[in-house]
Amino acid sequence: MKVICVDSERAMSAEAARLIAAHIRVKPNAVLGLATGSTPIGTYEELIRMHREEGLDFSEVRSVNLDEYVGLEPDHPQSYHYFMKHHLLDHIDIKPDHAHVPDGTARDLDAVCLEYDALIRELGGTDIQLLGIGRNGHIGFNEPGDAFVPETHVAELSDNTIEANQRFFRSADEVPRRAVTMGMGSIMQARHILLIACGESKADAVYGLVAGPVTPKVPASALQLHPHVTVIVDMAAARDLGLPGGLFGEA
Ligand code: PGA
Repeated sequence: MKVICVDSERAMSAEAARLIAAHIRVKPNAVLGLATGSTPIGTYEELIRMHREEGLDFSEVRSVNLDEYVGLEPDHPQSYHYFMKHHLLDHIDIKPDHAHVPDGTARDLDAVCLEYDALIRELGGTDIQLLGIGRNGHIGFNEPGDAFVPETHVAELSDNTIEANQRFFRSADEVPRRAVTMGMGSIMQARHILLIACGESKADAVYGLVAGPVTPKVPASALQLHPHVTVIVDMAAARDLGLPGGLFGEA
């Protein structure tokens, strides 16, 4: 696991976008695993800038998103379909049918989950998977629990996540209780994993990710077992890692 500590959220976003863009330049039909939440917004802004100013070409890129709330229509402003269109997809030249987000409105969610893992396999696997991290160490909606769930599945949101995500809704009551999420195996099959985190509220989770025991109680800790992970954190999120700012560390 390579840990890159930078001095600002802006630098984190720029470095993350640089890595994703490098994948696309080397492999124009790269499969990108994408994430939602506040953390990746700056990365997407930088990718849009690179598309507009540097001609970064997404016309052959395919994307698979990590997750979607159960029950929110794609045009609901808090759905992850809407988020992706608003923050990235509508501003680049990716083909609409090349961008995939799980369907959280289908009647047969088990079929959605099976088909989603099949889709990832058909695409040849993910080249680079972008991840944020929850304050409780979740990735996607793989919440702390007693076991890792390998496949895409329907997850119950933890109270911690409902509390963290209520800022996007009028109240906690409006936060959907369930989501379709890639499982740990669906995430770990990616050839390269890029996790970004900033702010002190993520410091405990980042410590668990990098230096804690591998345990389903901190789902992100499983990434220690992946051969090619890059973690980009600001100094606040790196609080307990003992890495000097600006230096690259191996953990
Ligand atoms: P955030 O969410 O980027 O909004 O903090 C990250 C996550 O929960 O994975």
